[in-house]
Amino acid sequence: MFHKIVAATGTFLSWRNIARDCLREGLKPSDIIWSLEGALSNDLFGSPEETREAVSADSHKVSRRFVELARNCVCHSDGERFSILYELLFECMKEPLILENALHPLVHKAMAMSKSVSRDKHKMKAFVRFKEDLQHDTVRRKFIAWFEPEHYIVEETAAFFVRRFNDLDWCIATPKGTAFFVDSKLTFDPSPAKRIKANDDIENLWKTYYANIFNPARLKLNAMRSEMPKKYWHNLPEAELIKELISNSGRRVDDMQNSQPTKPSSFAVAARAPAVSTHKLPQQYFSSITELNNAAQKCQRCPLHCNATQTVVGEGPANAKLMIVGEQPGDEEDLSGRPFVGPSGKLLDKALAAAGVLRDSIYISNAVKHFKFEPRGKRRIHMRPNSGEIQHCKYWLINEIGLIRPKLVLAMGATAAGVLTGSDQNIGARRGSIEHSNDNYAVMTTFHPSAILRAVNADTAGQMKAHFFSDIVKAMGFATSISPTD
Ligand code: URA
Repeated sequence: MFHKIVAATGTFLSWRNIARDCLREGLKPSDIIWSLEGALSNDLFGSPEETREAVSADSHKVSRRFVELARNCVCHSDGERFSILYELLFECMKEPLILENALHPLVHKAMAMSKSVSRDKHKMKAFVRFKEDLQHDTVRRKFIAWFEPEHYIVEETAAFFVRRFNDLDWCIATPKGTAFFVDSKLTFDPSPAKRIKANDDIENLWKTYYANIFNPARLKLNAMRSEMPKKYWHNLPEAELIKELISNSGRRVDDMQNSQPTKPSSFAVAARAPAVSTHKLPQQYFSSITELNNAAQKCQRCPLHCNATQTVVGEGPANAKLMIVGEQPGDEEDLSGRPFVGPSGKLLDKALAAAGVLRDSIYISNAVKHFKFEPRGKRRIHMRPNSGEIQHCKYWLINEIGLIRPKLVLAMGATAAGVLTGSDQNIGARRGSIEHSNDNYAVMTTFHPSAILRAVNADTAGQMKAHFFSDIVKAMGFATSISPTD
């Protein structure tokens, strides 16, 4: 008799490696006693044989279907799971099509186990409730969840939460092990955790959310019970509301039908407005550009902060007469933390030098302050920000303009031109003339240097460059001219 111990972390790979060894050695299912690391009863079988490292057993190939089934079954809480699986594997070697026969007792059993594990994983994704751990004053916010799965699914399901909550630190504690995601690193502790203490504020927040999304007119009790079985209720703060919400639902539906249509709240109207007016925002939030820049470093207004290295804020004197606004930092800007230091910046520097303008005398910023990119191998390919990202970042831009109060804002490219003027008219058709922002700042538009660098046709690139250089001269002339109101 051989005693095999499957690792409690990386359980599937551990079982697979041991099973391969056993097949290679020709061990029959009845020759092996399986157990999970840490769950060994004291010395009942003498000293257990060491689990060996993986061996390549190419002669023992199984179908993808078996691998998927086994990946789920090893998570099942049935103490016999490893031996049932090995028995099935052993049969698969003799009869590769055995999995097609759902009536075969072993296949039937493994499939039922796999289904139960899949369901448990699904429930974990739906019913984990994070509570913020407010005792930690760290850069990344920390969250804790307590969950009671039926099976050993925590390690396998943790990847789902990593994708969802990538920019936070969190842990999901369960009686079947704990997953930790700290500083972007996922680790797993297989030992049983103790139930964590509830934090009233967070629980109340869950209850408010649930009570608000509950629609009494769509009450389907049977569907609700099957989707949210009672056994999960004691860990769901919102569950104690269910009884009351259900008993009041009839009256609430009547009230809804009898009530008049309401006007959206002023907050909803403001939130849906396409552009934020700079009249309402400038300067009232930040007393200086330094204060604004410090706040922008912690910006999480949109998801772009998750992958960017840092917020790239504007730079230049706080009393600059000319402000130049580009689209968003590129790869080099993201790494250095300064706007326009890469290829586009070099072309801008040339244009400024040709116009006799010192870069130090103007304010240079971007419409969007985080680098948006798509990783491709080792490279990070620039992606255009979408309108939501641009609108979120407009908050910083209009506050910057409100603090610097330049005489002219030169918008380079369609993104900056669009966000400042609200017009998406072609740059070629409007460049070089004075327009007015929604808030009555003077705005001039010109080509973005990267558009010139990307132009495929040399003649076109030459023309665009000449226009770009002359627009810079014109913009500086306008910004430094004396007007009657100066
Ligand atoms: N392109 C931009 O729009 N901004 C930068 O800072 C760099 C490249």
